[in-house]
Amino acid sequence: MTIIEPFRIKSVEAIKFTTREQRELRLREAGYNVFLLRAEDVLIDLLTDSGTGAMSSAQWGALMQGDESYAGSRSFYRFRDVVADLTGFTHIIPTHQGRAAERILFHTILTPGDIVPNNSHFDTTRANIEVEEAEALDLVIPEGRIPSLVHPFKGNVDLEALDHLLTERGDRVPLVMVTVTNNSGGGQPVSLENLRGVRALCDKFHKPLFLDACRFAENAWFIKTREAGQSHRSPKEIAKEMFSLADGCTMSAKKDGLANIGGFLAMNDDRWAENARNLLILTEGFPTYGGLAGYDLEAIARGLEEVVEEPYLQYRIRSTAYLGEKLLAAGVPIIQPPGGHAIYIDARAMLPHIPPLQYPGIACVNALYLEGGVRGVEIGTVMFGLHHDGRETPAAMDLVRLAIPRRVYTQSHIDFVAEVVAAVGSRRAALGGYRMTHAPKVLRHFTAKFEPV
Ligand code: F0G
Repeated sequence: MTIIEPFRIKSVEAIKFTTREQRELRLREAGYNVFLLRAEDVLIDLLTDSGTGAMSSAQWGALMQGDESYAGSRSFYRFRDVVADLTGFTHIIPTHQGRAAERILFHTILTPGDIVPNNSHFDTTRANIEVEEAEALDLVIPEGRIPSLVHPFKGNVDLEALDHLLTERGDRVPLVMVTVTNNSGGGQPVSLENLRGVRALCDKFHKPLFLDACRFAENAWFIKTREAGQSHRSPKEIAKEMFSLADGCTMSAKKDGLANIGGFLAMNDDRWAENARNLLILTEGFPTYGGLAGYDLEAIARGLEEVVEEPYLQYRIRSTAYLGEKLLAAGVPIIQPPGGHAIYIDARAMLPHIPPLQYPGIACVNALYLEGGVRGVEIGTVMFGLHHDGRETPAAMDLVRLAIPRRVYTQSHIDFVAEVVAAVGSRRAALGGYRMTHAPKVLRHFTAKFEPV
C-alpha cells in the first residue's frame, strides 16, 4: 500500500514559477551561489530541512498559549517538562537555535589544543570548536565514507579509532560527541549498539558523551526498522534509550523539534550547566527563555511530541527514500542507502570531469536551479575544503544535498524534483566547473561568489 501523508492541508502557500532566462539572470546576480538567491525565485526549496517544516494546527494553536513573562514563564515549564521526559537530562537550557547551544557548550568547556571527536561534525559544530582553537575530529566508520556502499548504520562511530584516540590523547578530550543522524555523512543513522559501545568507552576513560540530537527521532525510526530486536518498540522508547546513554545534548529544534526556530542545550553536570547559564544570560537571554519567545517554547514542546509519532516517521523516512529510489533509477549516483532528512547526490562521481577544486557540487547545484528552480546545497569542497591555515584541499566527498522540509512538499513535488535531477543527469557531460571569485575565511559556503570556468 502507498504510504500516504498522515495529514491533510489546511493552509497553502503559493510558489512562484520562473522562466529559465529569469533563473539564469538571478543566478548570475547571486554570484552563482544559491545561498544568495531570493527564496521567492526558488520553486522547490531543498536547501535545508532546518526551520522550514510546516507546523501542525495543534502547534499553531499552542502559539496562543505562549506566556511571554520574562522569567519563570509557564511556557518554559511546559517545554522543560517535555524535554526532560524525552531526554532524562536534569538541566534544560533553551537557546535560539542549535549553534547557540554549541557555542555556549564549547566556549565554556574547551581550551586551545583540545580535541572533540564525533562521527562527523556538522559545519557549525566544527566552526564553533575551531574558533576555540580546538580540533574537531571525524571518526565515522570507514563504510560511512564510501557513498555507494549500502550499510544500515553508516553514521556509526569507529569504536577502535575512538579507543585509540582516548588511549593516546585522552587528556585533551573533554567530551565525546555523536551526531544523530549523521548529517555531514549523508543523514545516516547510528545504531543503539554503536551508541552503547561509545558509552562503554566513555565510561572506561571517564568522558562525558553528548549527542548532537537534531534528528534524534529520524535516527530512532531507523533503529526501529533496521536494528535486530527493536521493531516492537515505539520510536519514543528508542529515543529515550538513545538519550539515556548520553550525559547531555545539543539540539536544533528546527529539525526534529518541528519548529521554525529554537533549540536547547541539556546536560546532567551541575557545574557545566551553571557556566552555560551564565554565558546564556550574557548572549541569549534569561534561562527560562534563552532567546526564544514563550510561543516558540510552546511550538517546540508540541513538536517534540508529534515528531515521535509512528505514522509521521513512517511517512517522513519513506518520502526521502522515494526520492532516492527515483534518482537511482535515473542513474544518478547518490549516497546509499537514502538518509533520513535528505538525499545526497555524489557530485564527484556524477561529474568526474570536474576536478574537486572546480567544485563539482556547485556545478550540480547550479544546474538543478537552472533546470527547474530546485535549490539544493553543496556539502563538499566549498563547505569543508578550507583549512584554518588558509590551505584548500578537496573535501572527503563532494555531495549535493537535497534536504526535504518536514510536512511541506507532496509526492508530486518530489516527482517533479526527480525529473529535474534526471534531466540534469542526462546532460552531465556538458556541465562545467567554477572558480571562486570572493572567498570568505570562515563558513565560506554561505557568502562565496563564483564564476563559471
Ligand atoms: N548540528 C547538526 C547535525 C545540524 O544539521 C545543524 C544544522 C546544527 C547542528 C546547527 O543547528 O541551524 O539550529 O543552528 N543544520 C542545518 C542544515 C542548518 O541545513 O543541515 P542550527
